[in-house]
Amino acid sequence: MKNSSKTILITGTSSGIGRETALKLAKEGYKVFACVRRKIDKDELEKLNTNIKGVYLDITNPASIDKAFWFVLKNTEKIDVLINNAGIAVAGPIEFLPVKKVKEQFDVNVFGTLSVTQKFFPLLKNGLIINISSLASYGIFPYIAPYCASKRALDILFNNLMLENKDNVKVVSIKPAVIKTPIWNKSVKKAQNNFENLNEIAKRKYAKELSSLSKSAEKNNIQGLEPSIVVDTILKVINSKNPKPSYNVGFSSICSDFVSRLPQSFVNQIVKFKLSKIK
Ligand SMILES: NC(=O)c1ccc[n+]([C@@H]2O[C@H](COP(=O)([O-])OP(=O)(O)OC[C@H]3O[C@@H](n4cnc5c(N)ncnc54)[C@H](OP(=O)(O)O)[C@@H]3O)[C@@H](O)[C@H]2O)c1
Repeated sequence: MKNSSKTILITGTSSGIGRETALKLAKEGYKVFACVRRKIDKDELEKLNTNIKGVYLDITNPASIDKAFWFVLKNTEKIDVLINNAGIAVAGPIEFLPVKKVKEQFDVNVFGTLSVTQKFFPLLKNGLIINISSLASYGIFPYIAPYCASKRALDILFNNLMLENKDNVKVVSIKPAVIKTPIWNKSVKKAQNNFENLNEIAKRKYAKELSSLSKSAEKNNIQGLEPSIVVDTILKVINSKNPKPSYNVGFSSICSDFVSRLPQSFVNQIVKFKLSKIK
């Protein structure tokens, strides 16, 4: 079987990009450790391809990370590629969003990802870390600021990890545009819960913006790009001898990259104008 010597560990494979990646890489002959939180997801993935071994992993739980590590170590001596994919999106107006919710965002996307990486790092010598970042890392999206900040923080931490590490571990950030996955419905639900818990002043102040945010999230869930476009980039990176530190996936990611290089005052004016048109 081709690629059978390469071992890949992917976090967050119950749905969306992670699930598609696990299935595609397994189909290509890679040995895949697919991390999930529920038995039903583990059983389903293992049934779909025998190259997949399910691993229970909640990336915010140190005991779970420890258990996952020892389970993986029983089955392999090294990991060639760690794909940090698990993530959530927290939305809402910064003026009122409870700090607890912002911490939740960072607990998963930043601290969870970092904890998993530190734990598995000894198995990664000469290997590759692929982070599923986002166009949000370019940071110009009001009302999803916690998500943007978490992805930016992740990119900064991991680019420096690449520069610092002495084990020849490469790090690549993949920044997809909007992809059709369950993350959008989940974030709408979370944003609605957050909104319902806001006080009356906050609700009145930001009602139309939050309603518009929910509508565009619902649209993203239908009109987004297929997850396969991200999987194709992941495969390209894995097969590249000398991967770039960052890959934009999709036109809006390329545009966000470009816009982020323009003067901030100019970009802010345009974004502020667009926000003023929300009905
Ligand atoms: N969809 C997009 O438009 C888009 C664009 C750019 C970047 N991304 C990034 O792509 C990655 C995958 O997201 P997706 O769009 O495919 O959404 P998704 O279908 O919601 O997948 C998210 C995955 O993360 C897992 N997860 C969440 N919290 C976790 C935790 N504490 N521990 C372990 N696993 C956890 C989920 O598992 P459970 O089922 O157990 O909750 C799920 O498997 C995320 O990092 C996201 O930020 C997405």
